Amino acid sequence: MRPRSSCLLVLMALASVNYAMPAASEQKPLKIIKTLPEYIIPCTVDDPDVNNCIKNTFNHLRKYLQRGIPELNMDPLDPLLMDQLLMENGVGNVRVRALFNNMTVLGAGNYSVITVKSDLSRLRIDLGMRLPRISAMGHYEVSGQVLLFPVKSRGDFWATFNDITAVISLYGRDVARSGENFMQVDKLGVDFHLGGKSRFRIKDVVNGNTVIGEAMNHFLNENANEIIGEMKPAAGASIGKHFKSFLNQAFLQIPRRIWLRDPKMVDSSSDSTEDESSDN
Ligand SMILES: *[C@@H]1O[C@H](CO)[C@@H](O)[C@H](O)[C@H]1NC(C)=O
Ligand SMILES: *[C@@H]1O[C@H](CO)[C@@H](O)[C@H](O)[C@H]1NC(C)=O
Repeated sequence: MRPRSSCLLVLMALASVNYAMPAASEQKPLKIIKTLPEYIIPCTVDDPDVNNCIKNTFNHLRKYLQRGIPELNMDPLDPLLMDQLLMENGVGNVRVRALFNNMTVLGAGNYSVITVKSDLSRLRIDLGMRLPRISAMGHYEVSGQVLLFPVKSRGDFWATFNDITAVISLYGRDVARSGENFMQVDKLGVDFHLGGKSRFRIKDVVNGNTVIGEAMNHFLNENANEIIGEMKPAAGASIGKHFKSFLNQAFLQIPRRIWLRDPKMVDSSSDSTEDESSDN
C-alpha cells in the first residue's frame, strides 16, 4: 500500500509545484548573420499579409530546425535532447524537488504552424500549431515531502502524447548589438491541448518491485488526462523556458533586417557602409 500511495502523492506533488529551472544551458557563442540564409523567408512588418508570411517562415524553418542549424550553433529539434529539467517547490504542503534528466524527446520537429496572430509594434507574436505526436523518455528523480509523507522515487520514464494543439506566445523586445537590431524573446508562453490518448510508463528503482510498478503504470494510464490537466501550467512554464533559449539562439544571431524588416526602423548597419549594391 505504502509505495503505491507515495506514487499518488508524487503525482499530486508534480501537479502543484512551482517550477524553478536552473540557469538555461549556458549561452552558446553568438554570431551575426549578414545575408539572407536559405532557411529564412523574410517578412516585413507593414505587409498586410504579414501573419501569413510569419506562418510560412516558421513552416519553412521546420526542416532546418529538425536536423539543427550548424551556422547558428543550434542543435537538432528532432530528436531533442534535454540535459535536465528541474522542478522545485520549497514551501507549503508540497515540498519536492523533481529532476528529469537525460531526456530524449521525439516529434517536436513535426510541428505545423496553422495560424499566426501578431502585434508587431509590440513584437507580440502568437503561433497556433499542431503536433501529431510527442514522445519522451529519460530519467527522473523526485524527493521531498507531501503533507507529512516523505516521498522518494527515482527511475526511468516513457511518455507519449498525441494530437497536440498548442499556442506559443512570444513576447519580444528589440535589442541592439554591434550596430544591428534583433528581436529578443523575453517571455515565451505555452498553452496546449491534447486531443488524443496519452500513455505513461515508469520504472521506479526505489519503490519498485514488478507488481507495484505495474500498479503505478496502470494508475498513470487510467488517470492520464487528469494528471496532465493538473500539470499543464507547470509543464507549460518549463517547456516555455526551454524554447525561449532555443528560439533566442536564432533570434539573437539573425538581425531583424534579415527576417522581419521594419521600414520605419533606422537600419544602423547600412549607415556606415556604402555597398548596398553588393547583394552577391
Ligand atoms: C542517456 O540516454 C541515452 C539514450 O536514451 C543512453 O544511451 C545514455 O546511456 C543515457 N546517459 C546516461 C548518463 O544515463
Ligand atoms: C514525424 O513525421 C514523420 C513524417 O510524417 C514521421 O515519419 C515520424 O514518425 C514523425 N515523428 C514522430 C516522433 O512522430
